[in-house]
Amino acid sequence: MTSSKESTAGANPAAISLAKRAQLLKPSPILMLAARAGEMKAAGKDVISLSIGEPDWGTFDRIKEAAIASIRKGQTKYTPSSGIPELRKAVAAQASADLDMKFDFTEVTVSSGAKFVLFAALQAMVDPGDEVILVAPFWASYTTMVELADGVPRIAICDEDTNFKLTPAILEKAITPKTKVLLLNSPSNPTGLIYTREELAAIAEVLRKYPKIAVISDDIYNRLCFTDKLAPHLLHVAPDLRSRVVILNGASKTYSMTGWRIGWAIGPKAVITAMSNYQSQSVSCASASGQYGALEGVLNCDDDVARTVTVLKDKRDFLVAELSKVPGLKTVVPEGAFYLWVGIKPYLGKKYKGEVIHGSADLCQRLLEDKLVAAVPGVEFGLEGYLRLSYALEKEKGQEAIRRLGALVAEFT
Ligand SMILES: Cc1ncc(COP(=O)(O)O)c(C=O)c1O
Repeated sequence: MTSSKESTAGANPAAISLAKRAQLLKPSPILMLAARAGEMKAAGKDVISLSIGEPDWGTFDRIKEAAIASIRKGQTKYTPSSGIPELRKAVAAQASADLDMKFDFTEVTVSSGAKFVLFAALQAMVDPGDEVILVAPFWASYTTMVELADGVPRIAICDEDTNFKLTPAILEKAITPKTKVLLLNSPSNPTGLIYTREELAAIAEVLRKYPKIAVISDDIYNRLCFTDKLAPHLLHVAPDLRSRVVILNGASKTYSMTGWRIGWAIGPKAVITAMSNYQSQSVSCASASGQYGALEGVLNCDDDVARTVTVLKDKRDFLVAELSKVPGLKTVVPEGAFYLWVGIKPYLGKKYKGEVIHGSADLCQRLLEDKLVAAVPGVEFGLEGYLRLSYALEKEKGQEAIRRLGALVAEFT
């Protein structure tokens, strides 16, 4: 008989048996797809990647200059684990203006990207068995992060019937005595949709009935918004919930600083302190020069961001129109971020080159291998029947990618 230890050792030549936590861990499917597309590109193939959630415009020059100046000044050492006070103060001031309520810098913590900050928040808030409500479609990393905190993801499916948004009725149904956190994301990755003030007010009404439920509001795309300068926020309509809301944001998307790895959270001091302690015992602190760069972004880059949003909106309009030319595809018109959420249901169950295309993963595989376009299957976001296309790329490339998608589905029988 083979014990589980032996079988793990077989898969692991160093004979170190992996912790259960590590066995649970799957690599990010989006990063895997991007890596496969990268390999194909390196092999000389003309691959167009619509897979990764990354701005295609460079980090704004003034941010680069500020970071270089900080290095020249010798600001290259460890920083406090909650971040440099200047950045925490700037973030607190920005959030105070955005939400029309006063935040102190001690209510802010900064670390290595919003992803890690979310990880730290879940570690600080979730006990084993606690449930975290995730609104599907959701950002693919949420589920694993909840599981790594020994929490239980409770998926609230929100399909086209509710315009992919959480409603009071769906929220009520998802709540159990074990619910600890509701994770909200607006503008949403993958749909680009934004909750209106009225929709947020209705969610707040339910939350008031359950005082023990905390909210993590993932606002990473809140400045990449086409409907207004800033996306509406739960705290705009329900300031009374402030003591149980943790806001997540960062420099990656707004200031095109994905590789600099700077993110932050704003919230009640006890949680922020616990997160900073977690950060101090894990990554110590975010990179010093990254923080000085992000500081310039928060303080002085509103005009650059506004220009970016204008360009993105133009691309959105153009590519939504291109997609509408492909029969059978149903595209959600995004109100923010840089993703297109495209319905492909009429094509599922059909045959391509004699093989049945069962789901979005099959379709994406064929799209990549045969038409050289990398897109992310909707199933990775918890909802089957869709593709997510990132449109942070040149218009012409986006147009060509859509032409290839059209050519693929035209071959379905
Ligand atoms: C919804 C959402 N939240 C958080 C993040 C994390 O951003 P970062 O870790 O680059 O700051 C991302 C990145 O793709 C995202 O899409």
